Amino acid sequence: MKFDLDRLEASALLLGDALRKTAKDAYRSGRALLGEIRYDIDAFRQRDPAATDDAEIVLLYSGFHARTAHRLSHALHKRGHIRTARAVSQGARFLTGIEIHPGATIGRGLVIDHGSGVVIGETAEIGDDCTLYQGVTLGGTGKDSGKRHPTLGNNVMVGAGAKVLGPVTVGDNAKIASGAVVLHEIPADSTAVGIPARVVRVGGQRVANDLDQIHIPDPISNELSALRAELGALKTRLETLEQMPAAPQTPEAAPKAEKVEKKAAPRRAVRKKKEE
Ligand SMILES: CC(C)(COP(=O)(O)OP(=O)(O)OC[C@H]1O[C@@H](n2cnc3c(N)ncnc32)[C@H](O)[C@@H]1OP(=O)(O)O)[C@@H](O)C(=O)NCCC(=O)NCCS
Repeated sequence: MKFDLDRLEASALLLGDALRKTAKDAYRSGRALLGEIRYDIDAFRQRDPAATDDAEIVLLYSGFHARTAHRLSHALHKRGHIRTARAVSQGARFLTGIEIHPGATIGRGLVIDHGSGVVIGETAEIGDDCTLYQGVTLGGTGKDSGKRHPTLGNNVMVGAGAKVLGPVTVGDNAKIASGAVVLHEIPADSTAVGIPARVVRVGGQRVANDLDQIHIPDPISNELSALRAELGALKTRLETLEQMPAAPQTPEAAPKAEKVEKKAAPRRAVRKKKEE
């Protein structure tokens, strides 16, 4: 067998180029990934006053572990390894108590503080620099298909136990109070509280709210007051009429007036008795 040295040399060069390119790409992606992880660690240090050093966050913060596992499960999910991705996410849930679906799209600098009980659905999207506390759900209402989970903008804070349900959008810099249940869109730079959540601050300014849960008008009492006022007015009018001197009567009207007077006299007597 005769070797074609030229072809062999060309193939070796091609292989070398491919390997160099692969190594370069791997190096670049590795560096980018490390940069992202570095950013996450800094986010924990900035937003959790209890975090003392990087090692503590890397070794002991379940929110950081869950987010890092999600990077792996999300990459697998995107490449179509659905079951393996789910296995990674369920493993992370077992270890951290935080369930992030591999399909969820998450920006940089997510801080999940304390973590336990956090659930993030498949079609949820989270912008950069968001903070979630324990017990937060970014879930569906059960009524939507396709995109059925919320979208959080950048720098959104969702307080402990809050639920954001359905394909709603929470604008940049919004704060969702602990325990709130968000079912509708929340504008940027606002604070939403309660169940269902209502916006109480926009840009730090108090919002006049139509949904005052304390000073609710009572329709029955309003109706009674209106009736009482009407009755009072009628009574006054009647008294005025009774005090008026009787009008001179025409010969035709006299029998009619006599009839009316005959009917009114006993009623007047009863009313007078009651008033006494
Ligand atoms: C909502 C929150 C972010 C404060 O936001 P803010 O924009 O500074 O708003 P304010 O503190 O001025 O409160 C605005 C109004 O909402 C009310 N409010 C605040 N938090 C609330 C809550 N969780 N539930 C119901 N109402 C709440 C306030 O009493 C205030 O009412 P008012 O307008 O009648 O005075 C904060 O109260 C909160 O809930 N943070 C969550 C933190 C958390 O989960 N920590 C867990 C650590 S383990």
